[in-house]
Amino acid sequence: MTRPSVLVARAVFGDIVDRLRAHFDVEDNPQDRIFTKAELSAKLAGKAGAFITGSERIDAELLDANPQLRAVCNMAVGYNNIDVDACNARGVLATNTPDVLTETTADFGFALMMAAARRMAESEHFLRRGEWSKWSYDMFIGSDVHGATLGILGMGRIGQAIARRGALGFGMQVIYHNRSRLAPELEAPLGARYVSKEALLREADHLVLVVPYSAASHHAIGAAELALMKPSATLTNVARGGVVDDAALAAALRERRIAAAALDVFEGEPSVHPDLLTVPNVVLTPHIASATVRTRRAMADLAVDNLIAALTGGTPPTPVNPQVLPLKG
Ligand code: DGY
Repeated sequence: MTRPSVLVARAVFGDIVDRLRAHFDVEDNPQDRIFTKAELSAKLAGKAGAFITGSERIDAELLDANPQLRAVCNMAVGYNNIDVDACNARGVLATNTPDVLTETTADFGFALMMAAARRMAESEHFLRRGEWSKWSYDMFIGSDVHGATLGILGMGRIGQAIARRGALGFGMQVIYHNRSRLAPELEAPLGARYVSKEALLREADHLVLVVPYSAASHHAIGAAELALMKPSATLTNVARGGVVDDAALAAALRERRIAAAALDVFEGEPSVHPDLLTVPNVVLTPHIASATVRTRRAMADLAVDNLIAALTGGTPPTPVNPQVLPLKG
């Protein structure tokens, strides 16, 4: 019996790729080349499944060019790189990696928020430039995190984990806005208060974005929203590029209409809006919120679990579109 072929579209832990080799003929990419859309489509020729990351776009055109493809398994919780409707229409399974990265991503989001509030990157750059000549009472004076109002846009698993850190660890008042309000038993231990988006923007001392990217959340934070925020407020984005209008944010930071920002994700990444690179009051990191050894291994393992189950008649643990199961062929 011929074994199914799969593509591992990006470099990943070798022992985890070996798990796929036990079941499939594997074409991997240890050099971690970034494939163009045409190259990715060509690489998928004859493949029944693909291990992908958030950088690989799976759309109708690619699926039509590869009608044999049955499963695309993302090593990411976010799956805005996959056209799920196109997958549904063609009976292709999409999977993601929820839960395993929740706490790690929340740690990083909280750290970024603290770095913005306490001006850590800005002051470190000043020190490295050799500009530190004396202590002074107002040097890099920032705003407190403990006891402040933490605003969260998008109160899913990661949003709730950030809220827990703020409420239980730092005595913060938690307010949030979400498509739907949390159940009272989830709100109560956090003292979390559901508010309108406008109230969230107006009241938060530190606003953290954890909302999934979609057409509905595109530029959820733009010039109009930034104008509602306190001049002393900080904004942290660990959600997706595109949730924030980066040009509008750079302008607001430059004009000190908000105090500071911290961004792990960017519109059009890995490109970063040039204006963000020149404003001092922003912390910039290259999409690493889930990047710990344990968590990245868990994400890769879960993506592989999904791919193996999908193509061997098992039950994929974290399908995005379970309605396509069982897969044909
Ligand atoms: C995710 O899992 O969605 C993270 O952004 C890593 O890509």
